[in-house]
Order: sequence, then C-alpha cells, then structure tokens
Amino acid sequence: DITEQKESLDRFKALTENTSDWIWEINENATYTYASPRVKELLGYEPEEVIGKTPFDLMPPGAAERVSEEFGRIARDRIPFSGLENTNLHKDGHYVVLETSGVPILDACGHFRGYRGIDRDITARREIEERNRCQLNRLAALRAIDMAITASHDLNLTLNVIINEVISQLKIDAANVLLYRPGLQILEYAAGAGFRPQALQYTRLKIGESYAGRAARERCMVSIPNLRETDGFKRSKYMADENFISYYGVPLIAKGNVIGVLEIFHRSSLDPDQEWLGFLEALAGQAAIAIENGALIAELHSANMDIIMAYDATIEGWSKALDLRDKETEGHSQRVTELTVRIAHTMGMSESEQGHIRRGALLHDIGKMGIPDRILLKPGPLNEEEWEIMRKHPVFAYELLSPIEYLRPALDIPYCHHEKMDGTGYPRGLKGEQIPLSARIFAVVDIFDALSSERPYRPAWPKEKVSEHIRSLAGSHLDTKVVDIFLENEKDLLSWPLSSNLLQGSSLGRI
Ligand code: C2E
Ligand code: SIN
Ligand code: SIN
Ligand code: FE
Ligand code: FE
Repeated sequence: DITEQKESLDRFKALTENTSDWIWEINENATYTYASPRVKELLGYEPEEVIGKTPFDLMPPGAAERVSEEFGRIARDRIPFSGLENTNLHKDGHYVVLETSGVPILDACGHFRGYRGIDRDITARREIEERNRCQLNRLAALRAIDMAITASHDLNLTLNVIINEVISQLKIDAANVLLYRPGLQILEYAAGAGFRPQALQYTRLKIGESYAGRAARERCMVSIPNLRETDGFKRSKYMADENFISYYGVPLIAKGNVIGVLEIFHRSSLDPDQEWLGFLEALAGQAAIAIENGALIAELHSANMDIIMAYDATIEGWSKALDLRDKETEGHSQRVTELTVRIAHTMGMSESEQGHIRRGALLHDIGKMGIPDRILLKPGPLNEEEWEIMRKHPVFAYELLSPIEYLRPALDIPYCHHEKMDGTGYPRGLKGEQIPLSARIFAVVDIFDALSSERPYRPAWPKEKVSEHIRSLAGSHLDTKVVDIFLENEKDLLSWPLSSNLLQGSSLGRI
C-alpha cells in the first residue's frame, strides 16, 4: 500500500511548485538537477533551461566569482547554509538579488551528492534599504552643509563643501557654482570640482548665454541629456576635452533674485528619478543661502572696516590740528604715539590694548582745546590762576571723549597723563597703580618728547639732560619700571624708522 507515500509526495510537490520561492537541487558538480517552476518568474528561465547550468552561470561575472569562492568553502565542509546573498542576472538582463539557503544531500550510504535549497527574491527589500541609506546620506549631507554655512564665514570654503556633497551624493563627475555679478551682468566662476585644470577657471557668461545663462534668465532648471547632440557648449577649448555627456544647470535664487547657477556635469548618461532631482534642488537652495550669507557678512565686514578706517583717519586729523594750535614741533603727537605703542608692545600689552593706546596718545592733549590762547601760547611761565585752568585739560578731554563709545577705551591717556606716582599730579591725584599703565607709559614719553623740543616758553633740552631728568623723576613722578624699560631700550625704541616720513623735521631727528 503506497497511498500514504503518494499523499506525502503530492503534498511536497504542491508545496515546492506553489511557494513564491524557487526550489532547486544541484549535484556534487554544482549543476542544477531540479528547478521548481517558480524560476521562470524569478529569473525568466524555464526549469528545463536551468537544468545543466550551475548557479554561477546565472550571475554577472564579478558576483559569480565571489559567490563560487564562498560556496566552495561551504561545499568543502558539506554544511548547511542560509541567507547567502547573491546578485543574479535575469534572462532579460536586469539584476535580481536572491537570498539562498541550502542543505547538503547525502545518499543512503552517507555519500555527498549535492545540495538542495531555496532562493528568495529580496530585490525589493534591498532597494528599499538602499533608498533609506541614500536618504540618510543625503540628510547628513544637507546637515554638513548647514554646519559649514553656520560655522564658516568663508564663502569659498562653504561652496566647496556644497560642491563635494553634490558630486558624492548625486554620483556625478563634476560640478561648479557660477556667481551672478549684477554690475557686469555676467555669471562668473566661483568654485568647482571634478574638472581638469583650467577648464572653467575663466568662465564669464552673459545672462542668457549658454545653458547656465539660460537657467539664470528663465529662472528654471536646464537639463541637457546629451551634450554631443547639441552645439551649445563652446565655453572654452578645454571644455571639449572633458567629454561630458549630461548637463544640469540650476538657478540659485535667494529672496526672489537670481544670484548664481549650480552646474553639474557627467561623463555618461544620467537617468535621474524624482528624488535625485529633488535633492539637486535642495542642494541648490543651500548654495543660494550660503552665497547670500557670505555676501551679507562680507558687506558687514567691509562696512565695519570702512567705519573704523574713517574714524582713525578723523582721529589723526584732529591730532594734527591740535599740534598746530599748540605750536608743537611737527609730528609731536605721531611721535609720542609711536613710542608709547612700542613700549606697550615691549611690555607685552595686547593688540587691542595697543589700538586703544594709539588713539589715546594721538588725542592726549585734546583737552587743550578748552585752554585759551593767552595761556596756552604764553611765552613765559604760568601764574597760579593760569595753572588752575591749564590743569583742567585732562578733564576737558574726559568730557569731550567719554560720550564717544568707540573712544571710551582710549580715555586713560588723555585723562590720566599728568597723574604722578606719588599722588601729586592732576586732575585726580591718583597714586601708583591707580594710574592706568597706558598713562604711566605715556607720561614718560610725553615728558621726553616735550623736553627734547622747543617750546614758546623755553628752548629744547640736550639729550643727556633729558635722560637725566627722566631718571630723576622715577618713583616720584614716573613709574620706575617704565622708566627702566625706556632708558634701557632707548636706542631700540628710537631707532629708525620710527614711523618713516612722520619723523622728517622732528625733534627726535636732531637728537
Ligand atoms: P607740554 O608742553 O606738552 O608738556 C608736557 C609735560 O612735559 C609737562 O607737564 C611737564 O611734565 C613736562 N615739561 C614740559 N616742558 C618742561 C620744562 O620746561 N621743564 C620741566 N621740568 N618739565 C617740562 P605739565 O608741567 O603738567 O604741563 C602741562 C602743559 O602745560 C604743558 O604741556 C604746556 O602746554 C603747559 N605749560 C607748562 N609749563 C608752561 C609754561 O611755563 N608756560 C606755558 N606757556 N605753558 C606751560
Ligand atoms: C595697571 O595698569 O596696572 C592697572 C591700573 C588701573 O587700571 O587703574
Ligand atoms: C588701555 O588699553 O588703554 C588700558 C591700559 C591700562 O589701563 O592699563
Ligand atoms: Fe597734557
Ligand atoms: Fe604732549
């Protein structure tokens, strides 16, 4: 009675022939001896066509080698395997990813006779995974660009980050950004990668000219699937050697204005899907933001620099006007300024402190604007009433400068340059380190330069007498540490060029 046996066979036949997977057997030479009908749906072959072939005959060359090596190891040990992933070629040429599992076939005597197993089509699953991975990468790319835009104030650097992401994420050969120069009405090369040297460096296109110009004028993406079929790409003689096939030009638009064009080039055909095109547009959006940001920052920066330069030029002008009124020798203020900054530098004060010191020293006697000529220009010594007014000049300076925020950090010298270490100076009678260091430095230099110069009320002093006098003031009037530094380094500090042309005709020139 074989009824039971037949039922069992029917059951297995029904199962193998109706499952959505393909069931197969191979012999010890890896040749198919059985293929279930499902192979027709998976790989396009009739079962009879498969019999006699090996699994590696159904794979593209690279995959065949890798899988046959791996399968060789498995078969040597005659062990079961599962989840072996391999790429197969459908009869019509497209790729199918299969997941294979199998168990060894042993005959009644226990001899190895081959494998039997099951192949499952996981192409769809792989595609979804691949798409997810791709989307994650693209998100990461957008994030990297965001960070570059936020972190860097260097537009070139940011554009290079964007271009590198464009090339790697869109898997294209070359990309560049052209910037629109509204004054000249041209598109000019700003950054790019993937080109041979020189191919694009000198690109300057008129709006409407070439594909990029068209993208800018029409404010929409221009795509050329095959550049060889067109005559429009004569940008430079180097471009022809690049052998590009596909081209996309995407206008970069910020706040409704075209500010440039992102161009991408590929040396074979592109067949982009909706996601690829969407991502290209997202990247173009980022590039537009980066360019706008960069332009705003550059404008701010140059406006700032302009203002600072205008201020400093104004201050130097004031300073010269003050010297003229005081009948100072030419360049007195410039000279004491240069010397004070040199000592401050020698003493290790910071760049920004040196900037404040420079402005403060140039304006040190700005308070003399409030002193009448009859006192300031008096040819003889001042009387008590005149001195009382003269001693107000540092306070006048404070009143003049303190409302100007830019000059407030520079106030120490104009306000404190007549204070003395022992507290007998004016206007506040500050003592020792209560006097700002910058003012202590300046006092040494001011006295040095005043005594070395002629005044309406006395002739210039000889060099030795000036140094001696400065030495004698150390501790009482002047800061000993500053006096030491000044006298020890006098040669270096006074060495030419102190400030080149400023020194011509100066008192220091005569020492
Ligand atoms: P200044 O001419 O720029 O002098 C700055 C400082 O250098 C003086 O501060 C003083 O410390 C020192 N100095 C200048 N000339 C002499 C000098 O002949 N002998 C000595 N020992 N030190 C000198 P000071 O004394 O607080 O004077 C402040 C300002 O008052 C001077 O600025 C100058 O504009 C004015 N001044 C001072 N003395 C006279 C004077 O006898 N006649 C007139 N017309 N103005 C004077
Ligand atoms: C200093 O210069 O050592 C500080 C003095 C001050 O700022 O009053
Ligand atoms: C300044 O830079 O003017 C400050 C220097 C000081 O107070 O020591
Ligand atoms: Fe003064
Ligand atoms: Fe002075």
